[in-house]
Amino acid sequence: MLQVEGLSKTYNKSSRARVRAVNNVSFSVEKGQIVSLIGESGSGKSTIGNMVLQLTKPSSGRILFGNQDITRQRSRSSLKEYYRKVQGVFQDPFSTFNPIFRVDRVFAILHREFFPNEAAEAWQQRVEAALLSVGLTPAAVCGAYCHQLSGGQLQRILIARALLLEAELLVADEIISMLDASTRIDVLNLLGEMRERGLSMMFVTHDLSLGYYISDRVIILYKGVMVESGNTQTVFSDPQHPYSRSLLEAVPRLDVRWDELPPRPASRHEAAMFNPDCDKGSPRMEQIGEDHWIAVRDCLPGTEL
Ligand SMILES: Nc1ncnc2c1ncn2[C@@H]1O[C@H](COP(=O)(O)OP(=O)(O)O)[C@@H](O)[C@H]1O
Ligand SMILES: [Mg+2]
Repeated sequence: MLQVEGLSKTYNKSSRARVRAVNNVSFSVEKGQIVSLIGESGSGKSTIGNMVLQLTKPSSGRILFGNQDITRQRSRSSLKEYYRKVQGVFQDPFSTFNPIFRVDRVFAILHREFFPNEAAEAWQQRVEAALLSVGLTPAAVCGAYCHQLSGGQLQRILIARALLLEAELLVADEIISMLDASTRIDVLNLLGEMRERGLSMMFVTHDLSLGYYISDRVIILYKGVMVESGNTQTVFSDPQHPYSRSLLEAVPRLDVRWDELPPRPASRHEAAMFNPDCDKGSPRMEQIGEDHWIAVRDCLPGTEL
């Protein structure tokens, strides 16, 4: 469904300083799959999400959605068609909404733009059903101004919007972090139900436990570079890249005392990082299991690791 190939983004901070926010990232998202981009703050997760949402232009690489390279089509009509299928939900939903609009106006615009032939009554019923399914009371939110709602309510309105559009891919950027504990579970369950219905998701998070809980596959990013990717269970139970290992080891495990964890031998890749005979340039992804990939550096022939 979504294929990202060799995607890079460099920001020019000034005439001399440049930031490689995203460096040669490739991955795909299949129908009905939740893929998480995991990494600490500044690792390039949102930049990737914004490129998929066509809010930021890549410096190089391709993004294919249903076999069409979306980085090449930028006409108003093709963008509109794209946004019917691909929707974003953001960490800071306040910037997505015009604060002086009432919520019903947001849905009226959606009606006019995307479903002009649908009768007002039928549309209203669909809006109410969508709001109910994201745990909002239509009567309470429709008359409210966007600035009167909480961040969690606005995020859920964005999810309702994606439901109404029957979007195929949802790009969710740190959306759970600002919800309170009880709403969190509701939204997670809702996302699970949407996946059951075939919706795909790109889930951007710095929260490892959330990534573990929700995703089918994970991509671990470090400073804009993919360091490890694969099936969530596989990567979490047997991380191979030194960065993913340190990231996962930093999370306290409730089931094991830390001094009972078996010592982990240094991986081949860990050794390569510190060996002067190994390339310090861009790593390449090597397949090390059925669905398990890791960034490796090429070493001089005969290097002992
Ligand atoms: N518009 C921008 N202009 C310049 N630098 C940016 C811009 N957006 C992001 N960056 C830089 O790119 C890097 C990756 O940022 P981002 O994608 O937001 O990371 P994450 O979402 O993982 O926290 C950071 O170093 C950030 O400072
Ligand atoms: Mg971010």
